[in-house]
Parts: sequence; C-alpha cells; structure tokens
Amino acid sequence: MVREAATGQAIDRAAAALSAGKLVAFPTETVYGLGADATNAQAVAAVFAAKGRPRFNPLIVHVPDVAAAAELAEFSEHAELLASAFWPGALTLVLPRRPGSEIAELVSAGLASIAVRVPAHPIAVSLLRATGRPIAAPSANRSGHVSPTTAAHVEADLGNRVAIILDAGPTSLGLESTVVDVTGPSPVVLRLGGIARAALAGVLGRPVPFAGGEPNRPASPGMLARHYAPQTPLRLGAREVRTGEALLAFGAAVPRHAGVMLNLSRSGDLIEAAANLFAHLRHLDGLGAAGIAVMPIPQEGLGEAINDRLLRATRPA
Ligand code: TXA
Ligand code: MG
Repeated sequence: MVREAATGQAIDRAAAALSAGKLVAFPTETVYGLGADATNAQAVAAVFAAKGRPRFNPLIVHVPDVAAAAELAEFSEHAELLASAFWPGALTLVLPRRPGSEIAELVSAGLASIAVRVPAHPIAVSLLRATGRPIAAPSANRSGHVSPTTAAHVEADLGNRVAIILDAGPTSLGLESTVVDVTGPSPVVLRLGGIARAALAGVLGRPVPFAGGEPNRPASPGMLARHYAPQTPLRLGAREVRTGEALLAFGAAVPRHAGVMLNLSRSGDLIEAAANLFAHLRHLDGLGAAGIAVMPIPQEGLGEAINDRLLRATRPA
C-alpha cells in the first residue's frame, strides 16, 4: 500500500524515492505536503501535474534548519527576527533567492524570490535530513480541493501519483503556514495561516499588513507575487521564425531558422516542457533578440499551465 506508518525504514525509502525524482507525501504540523526534490525540475513539474493545477503557483521550499535556508535565500534583519522567533513552525518567508542556487526555476515560477519554511514536525525534519536536499511541497491535495490534514485525505486525492505517503496521524495545526513577504523594506502577509499577524507584529515592533486586505491589491493568496515576465517580446503559436527572433521550440518538427533555438521537449513531453520553461525563457531573454517565437503547445495536461504562463508573459506586469 502506498500509505505507510512513518517509521525510520519508511522515511529512508521515502528519501530514496525523492532522490530518484519521485513524489512523496509527508506530514508537517500544518497540513500534509506533496514533496519533490526542489533541485530536480522534472520532479517539480510532476508535482504540478499531480495536483492538476491550471497554473504554476510558486511552491514553498522546506528545509531542516535556518542554516539550510540561508544557503538558498538572503535574509534581511526582519527576516532573521521572524525566523528566529517562529522557526521551526508555521511561517513561510518569501525572500530574495540567492543567485546560483540549485533550486529549479519552476519552484518559484521564474521569480527572483523564493518561499522557505522550516517545519516543526519530527517526521518532516527526519525526511529532510535523510534526503539531504530541500523539498518543494505544496499542500497534498488536488487543485481546488481543501488541504489535507490526514494521510487518508492525501490517499484519496493523490494515492496513485506518489511513491509513498508517510502517515503520522492527523496534523496538529490543520491550517497552512502564514506566508510573509520580506523581500521589501516593509514585510507584508501574503497568506493568513497558522501564525497570527499580531504575533508577527509583536516580534517586529510594527504592524504587518495583509496584502489581500489593502485597496488595489489582489486578494488571492500569493497573487501579490509579480509574475516573471521576459523583456523580449514573445510571439506565441509561431510556426515559422522571423528575422532576428530566437525560437522556443516544442516537439520534433522544428521550423528552419538562423538564430538561437531551445527546445522545451523534443519528444513532446509536457512534463519535460514545464521543467524547462522558466530556465529556457530566461536564457533566450538574455540574448537581446528582437523577439522570441514560441511554437504552439497543446492545451492539455501541463500544457494548460504552460500556455497560461506564456500568455501572461506577453502582457505588461
Ligand atoms: O503549511 C503550508 O504552507 C503547506 C505545507 C505543506 O508546508 N504548504 C502549502 O503550500 O500550503 P501551497 O503551495 O499550497 O501554498 C504556497 C503559498 C501560495 O499562496 C503561494 O502563492 C505562496 O505560498 N508562495 C510561494 N512562493 C512564493 C513566492 N516566491 N512569492 C510569493 N508567494 C509565494
Ligand atoms: Mg494549497
């Protein structure tokens, strides 16, 4: 059975599965997470496919301690105060991503920031230590369903998509982590959760506004995150390449052209294409080409999320 009591042996098998690029569901003190090796873009793409998310929301990277978090992200004074007060715990910090970090671009959907959390659950921490890599994990539910607080909920939603579900009983909080954006001078809450705003304010000695509560700010969680948008204009659905354009190809039938070409997936695999999307876009954007011609991507499976992101990249932020 895919759901197993979270013994030491089961944790070791889960760690091996993660290292092999498979998905593992694991308990945290907030809700169960659907984990993938955060340095493996294909594994991260498989998370989006398993959840059936129609778009690429950025994911939270889980690490066992503050030192591991500091390797991935830059901590301001505010961030350090919040981390020392609430980690391990139900707080996610959105921080500037360290340049050259090994975290797959897809984890933060191409953004320059990264969301990090040190969970306060012994099984989650054991799994992180056994894996020896950061684990990207959204809540382990299908898109549109509520977050799972038991392993049975996870099994019902995702039982056929994961290598193993580590069962450690119901989660103690049952509410997701509070997400705080500390990339700017004034921290703001992007998602309300297990840590109250008043507790954050107590530590920082200043109010921490909820971004969703302010006028002219989008209310849905995480939507304050600016979407990654290339500087070079994109031309979608391209079947030929025009002079000066670079090509973002998909599939084996690539039009003839003189410029630079990167292929999202030569074999037409949408999971591979999702894994390559942000890194390829960033690379082509850096060439200073007149434009980027993007071949048509089928609107099925992860193609829906890929097309959503490409479409939004053609619009001003
Ligand atoms: O309690 C939790 O946070 C659980 C457990 C498994 O850790 N995870 C969870 O993940 O709820 P998820 O993917 O369902 O929600 C992550 C939230 C989303 O609102 C997302 O937009 C936001 O975090 N987020 C992640 N990275 C971000 C970034 N770089 N900038 C802004 N928001 C970000
Ligand atoms: Mg969720």
